[in-house]
Amino acid sequence: MLDIRSQFLNHFNYAPLLAVQSPGRINLIGEHTDYNHGFVLPAAIDKYIQVAIGKRTDGAIHMVALDLGQTIILPIHHLAPHATSWVNYLIGVVHQVLEKINTKDDLIKGFNICIQGNIPSGAGLSSSAAVECAVLFALNELYELQLTKMEMALMAQKAEHQFAGVKCGLMDMFASLHGQKNKVILLDCASLAYTYYPLVLKDYSIVLFDTQIKHALASSEYNTRRLECEQGLKMIQEKYPSLKTFRNINIEKVEECLAFNNNSTNAKIYQRCKYVVEEIERVQLAVKDLVAGDMLAFGKKMFATHEGLSKLYEVSCPELDFLVEAVKQNENVIGARMMGGGFGGCTINIIKNSAVDAISQEIAANYLSAYQQPLAIYSTSIEAGTHLIA
Ligand code: GLA
Repeated sequence: MLDIRSQFLNHFNYAPLLAVQSPGRINLIGEHTDYNHGFVLPAAIDKYIQVAIGKRTDGAIHMVALDLGQTIILPIHHLAPHATSWVNYLIGVVHQVLEKINTKDDLIKGFNICIQGNIPSGAGLSSSAAVECAVLFALNELYELQLTKMEMALMAQKAEHQFAGVKCGLMDMFASLHGQKNKVILLDCASLAYTYYPLVLKDYSIVLFDTQIKHALASSEYNTRRLECEQGLKMIQEKYPSLKTFRNINIEKVEECLAFNNNSTNAKIYQRCKYVVEEIERVQLAVKDLVAGDMLAFGKKMFATHEGLSKLYEVSCPELDFLVEAVKQNENVIGARMMGGGFGGCTINIIKNSAVDAISQEIAANYLSAYQQPLAIYSTSIEAGTHLIA
């Protein structure tokens, strides 16, 4: 990436007051559980969105997307969803800040901002959350807003709901802000309590295989899954009103309340809820494996998660299934699954270091011949969350 401070200086003819970088994320296990009061196990990675920022006094926001060569200027006090998607991630959090500080005297009188990044977009690595978190963190520093990281994560999530129209959970923003080097974070999405665990992989690495595909239905299907889960929960609550979330529901209750509805809509709801309840349990067991140092058992659970996401939750796609299938029988791959919302993006794989090159080459060749699409491959390291850059 270019030096973000010099880029800001080039564009605005003065030095920025500060610069921030916010990472993308991976998620080891716990998919589509965040908005269902479950657990997730993400980590921040060595791919970033960077911003440099300086104040204005005329009530305007000047936004420069360096990678796209685009500049957009908007009045700060009339922000509404915009036709350009990257702009929404940025102004969505500005809107949240203005609502939160709820002040009549213009604390924030406009600002200049340059933005760039090396998180591949559409790969399921949460580049949009990284944009939101970088901007929020920068505003928090610049205007001394005293927001905690958790408050910022919740504001970024709201921004995504209101400005990008995706009813996402909290995982991506949480992970980008709270990441720590070489640690995964178990987030309890009901209480928002979290615990760091060292990820000790010894002779293994995390490798991402990027389908470089994003099927168009990704965000609409995401919102549909959320609704299906809410419907399922309501149906269970008709019989058991005291069960408030999926956290209190076991597989027996899902079977009892949903399994015998044989019209196709209800069959789908049963499948979704079955997956969610199983995945919530699986994450807790996987963390026990992690603590016990049993990465083989951990990896098996990743394969099981993929199976559930593909067959029950139906958020995979042929390309992702192909990539997981391709490594499933390989003794040097201890775990693999699709990662993130689905319908494209990456698979996450835990692969023996000595085999990474050979496996990557073979899979890339097979993927190309199956889908006429090159595979992108990222070896990732786990890094700190959002921070100021010197
Ligand atoms: C997307 C969302 C997250 C989470 C995942 C699926 O990344 O932004 O909140 O729901 O999908 O686990």
